[in-house]
Amino acid sequence: MKITEALIAEHVVFHNLFDYIERTLPRMKTLGEVKLMAGLLESALAAHAKAEDELILAPLEHCLAQMGHQEKFHHEHEEIDRNLNLVHAARDLAKARTLLRNAVDFSRRHFDSEERILFPIAEEMLKPDTLTALASSWKKQREVDPL
Ligand SMILES: [Fe+2]
Ligand SMILES: [Fe+2]
Repeated sequence: MKITEALIAEHVVFHNLFDYIERTLPRMKTLGEVKLMAGLLESALAAHAKAEDELILAPLEHCLAQMGHQEKFHHEHEEIDRNLNLVHAARDLAKARTLLRNAVDFSRRHFDSEERILFPIAEEMLKPDTLTALASSWKKQREVDPL
């Protein structure tokens, strides 16, 4: 297995989670429900972003810098985190719902640009053995730090 395949498999799980949040958000009746959902998403996304930072962005640092993409993906990981923190700070249900919907929209766009730009760069620039070795590191990381 290649690291890109492992991360795309995680993306599929997140797309299902995003669909579920979008479907159920209008029916959430309390601020606590919205914050609980934001906390779940935050925790799962933090593990995913950590894997990408260490196993894709770090090995590609020089290539991404040359292409002008170096800061983009790191910055988006921080932005996703910031969006979800805003949900925790919200004082009313309508505001919390809007913020969580925005966080999901932003995350979807981020995932899309990784699938269109970042993962193809990784497949092109890293050797097949490196992609496989990084997937082994991902597997070890998941044993220690499960989703
Ligand atoms: Fe990411
Ligand atoms: Fe991702």
